[in-house]
Amino acid sequence: MRLVAPSLLSANFAKLEADLKMINASQADWLHLDVMDGVFVPNISFGFPVMEAVARICTKPLDVHLMIVEPQKFIPQVQALGAYLMNVHYEACTHLHRVIGEIHQAGMKAGVTLNPHTPVSVLEDILPDLDLVLLMSVNPGFGGQVFIEQTYAKITKLKQMIAGCKSPALIQIDGGVSLDNAGALYRAGADVLVSGSFIFKSPRPKEIIEQIKKA
Ligand code: DX5
Ligand code: ZN
Repeated sequence: MRLVAPSLLSANFAKLEADLKMINASQADWLHLDVMDGVFVPNISFGFPVMEAVARICTKPLDVHLMIVEPQKFIPQVQALGAYLMNVHYEACTHLHRVIGEIHQAGMKAGVTLNPHTPVSVLEDILPDLDLVLLMSVNPGFGGQVFIEQTYAKITKLKQMIAGCKSPALIQIDGGVSLDNAGALYRAGADVLVSGSFIFKSPRPKEIIEQIKKA
């Protein structure tokens, strides 16, 4: 699969409506929303009041990436947004199996994110229950960072694990994605590419979204 999820983190927050209309009119498959709490990651982004406003305008499925401690506390609020997918960090969940079950019970797709240092092998026993695995290709917390090349080896291993247990999980990549690596990432086995600064810093973001899909 070749999906693109632009990350709102790099949008113009003073003109969010214009950027959301651009996304609506584009070939973007999902809108990626990066929530940061200043505890799990060394930065704070936006929270529910902003996402509620976004949800009223955005016509694309919402892919909510929670870079926060105790993400399970917020399942009802993410559900109330009408989110398509709720994504929690492996490193933030002591009882990951329970959290995934609760996300499914709330009617959402469930994703788990791994930081760059976390091996894909930790997901062996939960993989059949996941709809998506997000491999961070930068350390979470900021847009515009340099892509970590080790991500390719993680994609290859994860792809084998997914095939081995017949998991429905898609592989998503987040951080430092551009036209320099999008084609190689899809060919390596990525299904969904998140891209923030590369899309929003361009004068023609809609064309960039199209080009990433075709990369
Ligand atoms: C980083 C976020 C990413 C970020 C990606 O913590 O999870 O989604 O927006 O930004 P770029 O594409 O600029 O690396
Ligand atoms: Zn993200």
